[in-house]
Amino acid sequence: MVKRNWIPVRGAQGAHSRQAHADMPDGTYEREVSKEGFFGPASFFHHRRPPTGWTSFEGPLRPRAFDLAALNEATASPWDAPRVLGNAHVEMRFWKLGAPMPALARNADGDQLLFVHEGRGDFFCDYGHLAFEAGDYLYIPRGTMWRLAPEGAAAILMIEATNGHYTLPDRGMLGPHAVFDPAMLDTPVMDEAFRAHQDEAGDHTVEIKKRGVVSTVTFPYNPLDAVGWHGDLAPARLNVRSIRPVASHRYHLPPSVHTTFLADRFVVCTFAPRPFETDPGALKVPFFHNNDDYDEVIFYHAGEFFSRDNIHPGMVTYHPAGFTHGPHPKALEHMLVQSKPATNEVAVMIDCRDPLEVSAAATGVEWGGYVDSWKRG
Ligand SMILES: [Fe+2]
Repeated sequence: MVKRNWIPVRGAQGAHSRQAHADMPDGTYEREVSKEGFFGPASFFHHRRPPTGWTSFEGPLRPRAFDLAALNEATASPWDAPRVLGNAHVEMRFWKLGAPMPALARNADGDQLLFVHEGRGDFFCDYGHLAFEAGDYLYIPRGTMWRLAPEGAAAILMIEATNGHYTLPDRGMLGPHAVFDPAMLDTPVMDEAFRAHQDEAGDHTVEIKKRGVVSTVTFPYNPLDAVGWHGDLAPARLNVRSIRPVASHRYHLPPSVHTTFLADRFVVCTFAPRPFETDPGALKVPFFHNNDDYDEVIFYHAGEFFSRDNIHPGMVTYHPAGFTHGPHPKALEHMLVQSKPATNEVAVMIDCRDPLEVSAAATGVEWGGYVDSWKRG
C-alpha cells in the first residue's frame, strides 16, 4: 500500500462512542466512512435512522444483484463463459462446464483464480494433476496450460488478475501461519492420472486468450508432457475449509481481515463460518459503511447469508462505491443481540479499487428488486 501523509484532522462532535463498532449511543446506527478500504483514515457517524432507509433510488448508481446460477448454459471453453463484471484490472466470469474440456486453456492476459462453486473432478496442467471439489480455489499463474475434467457438471467463478499477479496478504501481527497455513496450499503432482492424461492420443488444441481474443494452437500430442519440474512458481489449491477466519468476541472486524488473495488493484476475501461477537456492547452485524474507494462484489457460495435477505447460493451482489450500504432490516434486528452463536455463510468478496462495468449478460439475470430490499416489510 502507498504510504500517504493524510490530512491530519481529528474530531468528535455530539453523542459518540470512543471505540468504533462498540458501545454506540442508545438507539443509534453507526456508519463508517473511510479511505482506501478500511486501511485509511475513517470517521464513524451515529445516525438516528438506518442509513439505508431510502424510499427511492434513481439513476445508474444503485446496489445490484445478479443470479449467476441462472446466467448461462454450459460451455466447453472457459473463454466462452460470459463476463459478468470487470474493468482494466479484473475480469469475473461465471463458467458452467458440463463435461471434460476438449481443449487446453491458457490465459495470456493475467493470473487466473477459479473458485469452484459446484462440482468435482480433475485439474491437469503443465505441472501435474490436482483433484478439485466445491469450495476450492485454484490459482493458475498466467501462461499455464490447463484443463478441467469434471465428473459431472461444474460451476466456477473465474476471477482474472488482468495484467497482474495474485499474491498473499501480509498477515502482520497475526503471524505468517494464521488464517491459513501456507502449507495448506496444494500444488500439482505428477502422478499416475497425470501420466495417463499425457498419453492420450490424437491432436490437442490449446485455446490461448490474449487481450480477450482467443487463438488456437494445435499439437499432434498432448503438450502437458513434462516429465518433471522444479521451482517456486506453480498453480495452487486452497479449500475454504482450510480457512480459519480471524474473529474477535468483542469487536466486529472489517471485511479486510478476510483477505485471501491480493492482486494489484483488487482483493479476494473469503467469508468463512465464524462465531458472532458476544460482548454486550459490540456490534453483531456488519456496520453500515460507504467504502468510497472500492466497488464491492460478493459471490454467495453456501450457507445462510446472515446480513442479506433473499440471496441464495450462486447469486452475486454488487455495491459500487458512492452510497452507504449495510445489513438488511431483518439482520439489523440482531445488531446488538444475536440469537445464533455463529454464521455458516461461505462467500467470496472481490473488492475492486477501480469502478466495474456490468455486462449485458449480468443485466439479463439481474434481480431488479434488490435496491428495494432494505425497505422494511
Ligand atoms: Fe461493503
